[in-house]
Amino acid sequence: MGERAMYRRAIQYIKPMEQGWTQPHIFRCDDLNTYVVKLINNPDGTGVLANEWIAGRLGSLLHLPIANSRIIVITHDLLDMYPELKKLDITSGLHIGSCFEEYGVNVGEHVDLSDCRNLHHAAGMIVFDHWINNWDRHITQANLLYLQDKQEILLIDHSDAFFGPDWDMDEWWENEELEVFWGPLYEKFAPYIDNSDPFEEYLDAIESLEEADLRNAIHGIPHQWSIPEDDLDQLVDFLLFRKDRVRFALGELIEHFPIWHSTRLED
Ligand SMILES: Nc1ncnc2c1ncn2[C@@H]1O[C@H](COP(=O)(O)OP(=O)(O)OP(=O)(O)O)[C@@H](O)[C@H]1O
Ligand SMILES: [Mg+2]
Repeated sequence: MGERAMYRRAIQYIKPMEQGWTQPHIFRCDDLNTYVVKLINNPDGTGVLANEWIAGRLGSLLHLPIANSRIIVITHDLLDMYPELKKLDITSGLHIGSCFEEYGVNVGEHVDLSDCRNLHHAAGMIVFDHWINNWDRHITQANLLYLQDKQEILLIDHSDAFFGPDWDMDEWWENEELEVFWGPLYEKFAPYIDNSDPFEEYLDAIESLEEADLRNAIHGIPHQWSIPEDDLDQLVDFLLFRKDRVRFALGELIEHFPIWHSTRLED
């Protein structure tokens, strides 16, 4: 898809999302879809927008069900139409949004997944989170939606990927070994994805990625977000370094997967 096709112009302000640390807002855009928009002047800065953009593109590369990010143009004229936006000191220019899923609920303890049609992607989610160090999904349980109408899970909110929006490169290179995540969200999916080698397909997919794929994924970040080129180069190195280490890290999770575990013992 061309870059321009990634742009949507906001034509109507709907309301604040009223959930989420980055304080997203809901807008209708010129394609008449409604978007959950993270703003350039959110409390965590433009790194949030870059993280969403890059993670969204990496996730699509792996064919994961991940919210499709669009760059949302908010014009001066639109801001002039809504005094409440003026009060919030919203800047005009380029923000980021994902299509608002009206029937999406956060996958927490009480969500019944028995009718879910794309549960196998939960294995991909776990691989992906480790690769990009998306440390908060398994803890908060709020960054995965279950779309009740489509009966599918959808990965959202990659604000905290890459160790967080500040891109602390010392932290990136501090440990050769990847931190391993486990918690109630992943636990919920374990019975559905357990088999003789639950992560193989997705590990294979990230290990086969090449530098050019990653360069393509970081492409298209608006200048207005002020992300230095050097930082983007380092991010590519960071991802290349980690992609071949996810397999080893996930090996530590075997005890949570009885079928995988028993198959390994038989080998
Ligand atoms: N595309 C969407 N469709 C429907 N609901 C959404 C969508 N995007 C986000 N939400 C809802 O809004 C909440 C906040 O969004 P999101 O998690 O992206 O923001 P955040 O500020 O980064 O959150 P956090 O507080 O986890 O850092 C989500 O937990 C989810 O319930
Ligand atoms: Mg969130």
